[in-house]
Amino acid sequence: MKRDLLSIQELGYQEIFEIINLAEDVKLNSVKYQSALKGKSIGLIFQKPSNRTRVSFEIGMFQLGGHSVYLGSTELGMGGRESVKDVACVLSRYLNGIVARTYKHADIEELAKYASIPIINGLSDIAHPCQALGDIFTMEEKFGTLERLTISYIGDGNNVLNSLMCIAAKLGINMRVATPKNYAPDKEIVKIAKSYAAKSGSTLEISNDPKKAAKDADVLYTDVWVSMGQEKDSAKRIKAFKNFQLNDKLAKLAKNTHVVMHCLPAHRGQEISDSVMDSRHSVVYAQAENRMHVQKAILLKLLK
Ligand code: CP
Ligand code: NVA
Repeated sequence: MKRDLLSIQELGYQEIFEIINLAEDVKLNSVKYQSALKGKSIGLIFQKPSNRTRVSFEIGMFQLGGHSVYLGSTELGMGGRESVKDVACVLSRYLNGIVARTYKHADIEELAKYASIPIINGLSDIAHPCQALGDIFTMEEKFGTLERLTISYIGDGNNVLNSLMCIAAKLGINMRVATPKNYAPDKEIVKIAKSYAAKSGSTLEISNDPKKAAKDADVLYTDVWVSMGQEKDSAKRIKAFKNFQLNDKLAKLAKNTHVVMHCLPAHRGQEISDSVMDSRHSVVYAQAENRMHVQKAILLKLLK
């Protein structure tokens, strides 16, 4: 049976570690995997722009001996020129897997329903599972362990946060989230993440107080205030988030050993100051690099 990766919710504790451990081996011994997906092809259906996700999947697939084809919104017109179902059924006959970045999560679910090949979520309005897996890999690499870590996320209750909350809670990592009042994460996803935290014995606190969230943190994490597709609300959002910038004042509250993470792209001077983004605590470029190693592991797991 084919397996998809639409959200962190569908991965077990063991499976998350299998991906992370494989990513570590792929990173250290890339030559060993250079023909692992020889003769296989993936399609990249992207309705929104991308740097990291597109390039790391394309190059990752190439480094595994496979091939990828980029299908931007103007070529494919999924949901307009052709139905999601027809796209799924036709591409299943050419390809071995699809990475999809859509506006609506429901479109990725529909692709998965009709495709006979694995569908990987490359970012939807509610989830970014590849990012969360890459981030956990980076944390393990930087701290040598995930035990007793506290992640503080300051900013918008968005797709990146949803996946990060779920993976942290599943793995027993404590998390403190601070968002402005009307920008809290999705209630249903918080409920799910809290149920994982109850099982793993970790804590998940949601507040509107960035200082409280940042205090003694191991990881300070933020993301843009205006996600792709929300551009018309830019002015309103920038105003609402003005006290939620990850800057030196907040960073001083975290542990001396803390790392700063951002999924990127960053809007320097908005959600993160230049000084924090470029500080010795920042691991944002290592974090971006690790997307590729983790995604190679995901491709190996799903396509082999
Ligand atoms: N973090 C991330 O997914 O970046 P891109 O939007 O550039 O792919
Ligand atoms: N929250 C951002 C993440 C980009 C990787 C967005 O959806 O635009």
